[in-house]
Amino acid sequence: MDKLQISGGVALRGEIAISGAKNAALPLLCAALLTREPVTFTHVPHLNDIGTMLRLLEQIGVKVAREAGKDAAGDTVTLDASALDNPLAPYELVKTMRAAILVLGPLVARAGEAKVSLPGGCAIGARPVDQHIKGLTAMGAEISVEHGYVHAQATRLKGARIFTDMVTVTGTENLMMAACLGTGETIIENAAREPEVVDLATCLNAMGARVSGAGSDVIRIQGVEALHGATHRVMPDRIETGTYLCAAAATGGDVRLTGTSSAYLDAVIDKLMDTGCEITSERDAIRLKAPARLNAVSIRTAPYPAFPTDMQAQFMAINAVADGTAVIRETIFENRFMHAVELIRLGADIKIDGNTAFVKGVAELQGATVMATDLRASASLVIAGLVAQGETVIERIYHLDRGYEALDQKLSALGARVARLK
Ligand code: UD1
Repeated sequence: MDKLQISGGVALRGEIAISGAKNAALPLLCAALLTREPVTFTHVPHLNDIGTMLRLLEQIGVKVAREAGKDAAGDTVTLDASALDNPLAPYELVKTMRAAILVLGPLVARAGEAKVSLPGGCAIGARPVDQHIKGLTAMGAEISVEHGYVHAQATRLKGARIFTDMVTVTGTENLMMAACLGTGETIIENAAREPEVVDLATCLNAMGARVSGAGSDVIRIQGVEALHGATHRVMPDRIETGTYLCAAAATGGDVRLTGTSSAYLDAVIDKLMDTGCEITSERDAIRLKAPARLNAVSIRTAPYPAFPTDMQAQFMAINAVADGTAVIRETIFENRFMHAVELIRLGADIKIDGNTAFVKGVAELQGATVMATDLRASASLVIAGLVAQGETVIERIYHLDRGYEALDQKLSALGARVARLK
């Protein structure tokens, strides 16, 4: 299993390009299931989760053509879902990537049937899919859960008014996609407002859907008979952007990130400015200049536009070496502090009480061998390794490969001393 070796203590400097967003690309690829005509996506990031999703779509019957792009331009992927002969998402794939649940809505809408494995427990919490099931049931799908699989059937879904019990990103996306081919109007209330939901709605409308209100908490979808092909560019990855901004901040660096925008990162940029960093936003780029030492900043995660849970771990790492004490409250996932024990092994001073972490900044971290436990937890260990004195080895970096394209190359381009050990 690959490891990442980092010799810390180098301030990151220079310019790198940000990739297309994983969390936008995953639902977008599933949207291609809704039409018989080919759909083309550009700026698809080169990530393990994308490979897993494409394998799943192929098993379902989708023809996949993937063309490698240059550098951060990402891949161009064309999907032809004219024949869907096997509407099944098996456990082997769903267990490695929970977002596989995103095939459920489009498959039942277009093929009239879907069998998708329940994701089961994952490292950051129970993460049930009850809201996806509740919404599809309201649209008239017959759903049973047997032998660990959700089995959904419907001749044609019908419009419904759906109020989700909590804000769910993939839940909103699944229901929005399903409703596109239903009869009449579907209204999703308490919808997720994440930019990735808006990106999906834009693509669906380019395919002939009638979706309005995406980006607000009420989304309306007028069902249509059929969707058609389209070409869509995947939006930039706001979490990758935020992660490199944190890495630059923690190391006292000065970086410019291109192909991205601060438009989707207000909560994160606000907090980085509170740490003492200077941030300049351009139309398609962001520059961050960090002071020698950061101020601690407290955060509380919540659905967009509040502070994203996917940036919580990275902020724990920067607070570990800031002046003062930060209080970090995680309100989305119940078990998302696993990086804390690894950061403590690097010398951080962190106390956990339920969903709250108290992080007291220390003068410096020391390198050690640590283990990645999930995607964003791994990113926080990378940031800590970049500031730590001496050498840090991060084990199980397959988690990073799920969500950060060319992480070692991008960090090297910014001057970091990193090596991938096979
Ligand atoms: C998405 C993101 C993930 C991010 C998360 C929260 C993708 C592919 N992944 O995950 O990176 O961390 O949003 O911003 O976009 N819940 C239920 N029942 C449901 C659905 C959700 O109880 O049916 C709960 C979850 O357990 C969690 C909360 O709702 O506590 C939010 O989860 P959700 O927004 O659904 O996360 P994902 O869409 O899986």
